[in-house]
Amino acid sequence: MTTASPTASSTASSAIRTIPVELAANAYPVVIGAGGLSRLGPLIRERGFKAGTKVLLVTNPVVMEHYGAAALASLEAADLAASALVIEAGEDQKTPATVAQIHDAAFARKLERGSLIVALGGGVVGDMAGFAAATWLRGIAVVQVPTTLLAMVDAAIGGKTGVNHPGGKNLIGAFHQPRLVLIDPITLATLPEREFRAGMAEVIKYGVIGDAGLFAQLEAAGPIDSIGAVGPELLQTLLERSAAAKAQVVAADEREGGLRAILNYGHTLGHVVETLCGYGTWLHGEAVAIGMAAAGAIAVEMGLWSGAEQARQLALIEAAGLPVRWPALEPQAVLACLQGDKKVRDCRVRFVLPTAIGSVQIRDDVTAEIVQLALAAA
Ligand code: NAD
Ligand code: GLY
Repeated sequence: MTTASPTASSTASSAIRTIPVELAANAYPVVIGAGGLSRLGPLIRERGFKAGTKVLLVTNPVVMEHYGAAALASLEAADLAASALVIEAGEDQKTPATVAQIHDAAFARKLERGSLIVALGGGVVGDMAGFAAATWLRGIAVVQVPTTLLAMVDAAIGGKTGVNHPGGKNLIGAFHQPRLVLIDPITLATLPEREFRAGMAEVIKYGVIGDAGLFAQLEAAGPIDSIGAVGPELLQTLLERSAAAKAQVVAADEREGGLRAILNYGHTLGHVVETLCGYGTWLHGEAVAIGMAAAGAIAVEMGLWSGAEQARQLALIEAAGLPVRWPALEPQAVLACLQGDKKVRDCRVRFVLPTAIGSVQIRDDVTAEIVQLALAAA
């Protein structure tokens, strides 16, 4: 059983804030602030990359159209030898074949050990560009510049990289920490609202697993289902607190030996929803929202947290415009899918369950009967 309460922390400097990811080796900053994209080149130089360093900017067509020119201009103005590679990057393209395209570009452009890959995009681009960097020449540097809310608060921080296998999501991958994460909230202006809401699921997750203050702030904000509803101040706050929460967990447990598993809150059951409803039916964040509601129902069933706390969780998820209802799925298929989860240890499924707003436990003693009862109620 593990309990954790990560808290937000950051060092201030005008509008741009820096959250350190304090790893013993490979520590790096998460830099957050409106307009930050224009500082991409100088920030990379500050991280020790010399003038003339080759930089491969990996992005997808939509993000290239909106932010490619600004990113390249900043890199070039900082005397970095930048070029772009645009890949097709939907979830269905998150494959070894697409990573091979990045490797081909690395070869063609003669990337060396001291060269750098910059991932500009959502979690799909970040995971693949990170994995390409982890594997090219046995590992070159990567900088993550996330442009979706989900990638800003979760995927870009922490060093998990990889691609999907026909047998399951993210089965092929490597830990490869970035040298810098640069978050410019202005890039969210063009993000489709459904994608924004999906990212809010991960923000709510940080509230439930460790940051009761963040949870309360989100509750007090009323509807939080669009960037307009959230507003720039709360947006900056939730980016900082989410990054700080993730940084703290990753620093304590880089390779998911224990504590880091709390970041999977809502994901075990969310994964079942994604798999059994068919990939593409629900966005990842939407499935996580359903998974958090379901994990809360299991926790109520086990007497770990109250109906009142579950009601608060459900209300906040709904305020973010996210789904909470467990879909009509065949119970035996759900149990079989749970057994196939990456988080199964010694054939026992490990659930992250809430015990209070801001506190969770990892439990491997949830019976099939409890799962079925809770999901029927959810
Ligand atoms: P995504 O990368 O597919 O992006 C969602 C959509 O938004 C795409 O169509 C993309 O083109 C578009 N887009 C991105 N930024 C935009 C912008 N600023 N303006 C307009 N459109 C924009 O999805 P995602 O939710 O960012 O990431 C999901 C992926 O992240 C999954 O593959 C998941 O496995 C992975 N993930 C990884 C980690 C990790 O720790 N590495 C954590 C969570 C999720
Ligand atoms: N997104 C879960 C993790 O980074 O561990």
